[in-house]
Amino acid sequence: MSAISMQNVSYTYRGAATAAIKDVSCVFEPGLLYALIGPSGSGKSTLLSLLAGLDLPTSGEIHFGEKSLRDMDLDAYRRESISMIFQAFHLFPLMTVIENVCYPMELCGLHPKEAKERARPLLESVGIGVEKFSRFPANLSGGEQQRVAIARSLASGAKTILADEPTGNLDTANTVNVIEILRQLAHEKGCCVIVVTHDTEVSVLADIVYRVKDGALTCIEA
Ligand SMILES: Nc1ncnc2c1ncn2[C@@H]1O[C@H](COP(=O)(O)OP(=O)(O)O)[C@@H](O)[C@H]1O
Ligand SMILES: [Mg+2]
Repeated sequence: MSAISMQNVSYTYRGAATAAIKDVSCVFEPGLLYALIGPSGSGKSTLLSLLAGLDLPTSGEIHFGEKSLRDMDLDAYRRESISMIFQAFHLFPLMTVIENVCYPMELCGLHPKEAKERARPLLESVGIGVEKFSRFPANLSGGEQQRVAIARSLASGAKTILADEPTGNLDTANTVNVIEILRQLAHEKGCCVIVVTHDTEVSVLADIVYRVKDGALTCIEA
């Protein structure tokens, strides 16, 4: 399993006067749950999108294992190596809950029956019971929709999980439940899990906490 490392990474949005990410160097190891905290506008989402290969740094390098993202097929990297979870993740409205989770697995060639077998425990692990599997997203609460989206993100099986405020709309019990799932993925499956969060519950459960401020990163807990 591969660590992701950043070496002197800076990033400036096109047309912006100042850099959103400033000279960040850091290693994210497999098997650990990381929390990135910091005020709104400090650069957390920008940092995650760079790790996800949505754009390349303006200067500096990001390595996945030994390879620089500059030398990789970024579409394949995003599809195969990275699993992203967002605060507002739009489910396919015309697919049921279980179809939403099965769809990406079937796209990757999994037999529909096997996809369903994998989807069930994923949904149950985020607190979506079997009685909701046949509902359409519009008939779920916001919190439930988000948990389905999380189950769908986990279905790809990628070992690097990048989550941007994944518990932003969940109550405390569901927040702890979701973070426990992410912790298990790190500690038991060896995933590298990086969570942007405002939740103290999340940062308390993380192995390592970084503070992002004005585009720079400081480790505040190890
Ligand atoms: N698409 C964009 N174009 C220009 N500037 C952006 C864009 N997205 C974010 N920014 C700016 O980059 C900085 C960091 O934003 P962001 O990474 O979204 O912060 P956070 O996720 O911590 O709230 C902010 O100053 C924001 O205004
Ligand atoms: Mg953000």
